[in-house]
Amino acid sequence: MINSKLPKIWYGGDYNPDQWDKSFWDEDIRMFKLAGIDVATLNVFAWAKNQPDEDTYRFDWLDEMMDKLHAAGIGVCLATSTAAVPAWMARKYPDVLQVDFHGNKRKFGGRHNFCPNSPTYRTYAPRMAEKLAERYKDHPALLIWHINNEYGGAGNCYCDNCEAAFREWLKKRYGTIEEVNRAWNTAFWGHTFYDWEDIVLPSGRSEEWYGANGRTETNFQGISLDYCRFQSDSILECYLLEYEAVKKHTPDIPVTTNLMGAFKKLDYHKWAKHMDVVSWDNYPRFDTPYSYTAMMHDLMRGLKEGQPFMLMEQTPSQQNWQPYNSLKRPGVMRLWSYQAVARGADTVMFFQLRRSIGACEKYHGAVIEHVGHEHTRVFRECAKLGAELGKLGDTLLDSRIKSKVAILFDWENWWAIEMSSGPTIDLNYVNEAHRFYDALYRAGIPADVVGVDADLSGYDLVIAPVLYMVKPGIADKLERYVEAGGAFITTYFSGIVDQNDLVKIGGYPGELRKLLGIWAEEIDALLPSQRNKIVLQDPAITGKTEYSCGMLCDLIHSEGAEVKAVYGEDFYRGMPALTVNRFGSGEAWYVATHAEDAFLQDWLPKLCASRGIQPLLPALPAGIEATLRKKDGTDYLFVLNHNEHPVEVNLGGLSGTDLLTGQTLAGARAELAGRDLWIVKVER
Ligand code: GLA
Ligand code: ZN
Repeated sequence: MINSKLPKIWYGGDYNPDQWDKSFWDEDIRMFKLAGIDVATLNVFAWAKNQPDEDTYRFDWLDEMMDKLHAAGIGVCLATSTAAVPAWMARKYPDVLQVDFHGNKRKFGGRHNFCPNSPTYRTYAPRMAEKLAERYKDHPALLIWHINNEYGGAGNCYCDNCEAAFREWLKKRYGTIEEVNRAWNTAFWGHTFYDWEDIVLPSGRSEEWYGANGRTETNFQGISLDYCRFQSDSILECYLLEYEAVKKHTPDIPVTTNLMGAFKKLDYHKWAKHMDVVSWDNYPRFDTPYSYTAMMHDLMRGLKEGQPFMLMEQTPSQQNWQPYNSLKRPGVMRLWSYQAVARGADTVMFFQLRRSIGACEKYHGAVIEHVGHEHTRVFRECAKLGAELGKLGDTLLDSRIKSKVAILFDWENWWAIEMSSGPTIDLNYVNEAHRFYDALYRAGIPADVVGVDADLSGYDLVIAPVLYMVKPGIADKLERYVEAGGAFITTYFSGIVDQNDLVKIGGYPGELRKLLGIWAEEIDALLPSQRNKIVLQDPAITGKTEYSCGMLCDLIHSEGAEVKAVYGEDFYRGMPALTVNRFGSGEAWYVATHAEDAFLQDWLPKLCASRGIQPLLPALPAGIEATLRKKDGTDYLFVLNHNEHPVEVNLGGLSGTDLLTGQTLAGARAELAGRDLWIVKVER
């Protein structure tokens, strides 16, 4: 468990008493108790208060608050306050300020506003973390460290310190300038570098520009990819400096930093190796598909091989930063909180506990609203959930999810796909992964979302949507997995380049060609208004014969793979559109085009069935979500109803007791109320 001092699902969230007069504090704590809150995240943005000048450190407010919370039986998730630099530092040491994409030096303002290669920042941020660790190392309220906040939340930096550090980073990666020239293919457009000093950061002043779809476009994918890696690594180094600073004094207190789901800028697979527990901030919109939120939870769970994670932030009611900040309807906050728990969270935490009165977050929801008392809908819902989580105790803590299906998700692949010049601007990596995930979700088939380095041996089906970049060792690993009996699916625009975005010559899909038993000769990009269709050769595969397709159509030839569908139109009519290659004792599928969602929804459950992968519940009605957490030989089946109306759910022969109500649920049909859920302790 995260910390044995609090052996239950933690409940609480960001609390900023440093932004309030002390006269509010006792009243806040009184209401926290009413709401069943047992953890407060303190000190997230208090650097300016804690260190008013270079030599002065003052923690009196924090001492007092830590003591008060402890006296009230509330633990502390202690942030290091380094996510927004104080004004004196920006004035005195401008190297902490970033230079933006267009070369403009930033002035003081905003947050997440530091240059990750600033010597000043790298001195003062870990120093602050260390001061806090020295001071609170024995404080009984301290449960976990929360380093910084939402790293990467502002733009990338293009300052001279970053440029110098980039050159050093490149020296380590490539050794010689000749190797850099090779890796980036700089013979193109006469970009040959003669000296390390010739290398400048790829920005709006050099190789890049803002293009279609709000994406950054580049002339040279090689340098731009390395700059993405470098920025992610630079920020990670800042995290590590603070991590080490607190670990020095509190080796046994876990450390986290709050991640943001599919956040493009940071390679979270690399980051998670240095986190004791993953935590993340979940802010779905009113219309975010439930399966998308589910996938984000699974992505975060997959960062540390399924270890339970923390839901660090969510709003109790509404956000302020979306274009339209809808209220969470009655019951929805509770339901979405349990959605996180159902997918592996061992905490339910909010941003924030008391609603701010000034600046941009004053219309962001909070447990305690502007009215200042507990007689509000939001507070009542929070208190109800707090009481329930109290009753659940430690029952679910540390339980695990076991999936037979894995979806591979890779940050470097994501960067490369979306900085590719051609063949289409419509390819969105997260959407592609989500299409596969959603088809499984609807069928009630659990999937893990894991990195390309993950151990695949426990999975019966591995799906790699758009595996465009094949890094060293990956093709071999996939071959071994399939040889040993696994099923593998990949898609159009896969196997094209290596880790430097250099095309693997000798025919697409490059290193995956043998495994897939195909050759992709050409890739057609369709306009949004254009459609083709796929015609199934064996209708048993989906139960239908035709589906529409578009966006990308690979023109492939079988080199031993069985053709399961062909194109129905255009000059490549009759060419394969879906193939399967028997390889060792397994099978490798190639989906050559972006077929309509219905195809995946019809096909994947059938393919799973053929591999003995069963849904958690039979014939899952729309809007019903099912997951299973296991602990000490006991299964806990979560069934969530995202619909407003009640739905009859077939428990498919399972029976057990709902942990929340004590109600016995058996076999055939039971009615689940709208926006409600069961956590069924399954009886064997
Ligand atoms: C993020 C931040 C918080 C707050 C919330 C508002 O998650 O970490 O400080 O700004 O957004 O939604
Ligand atoms: Zn910089």
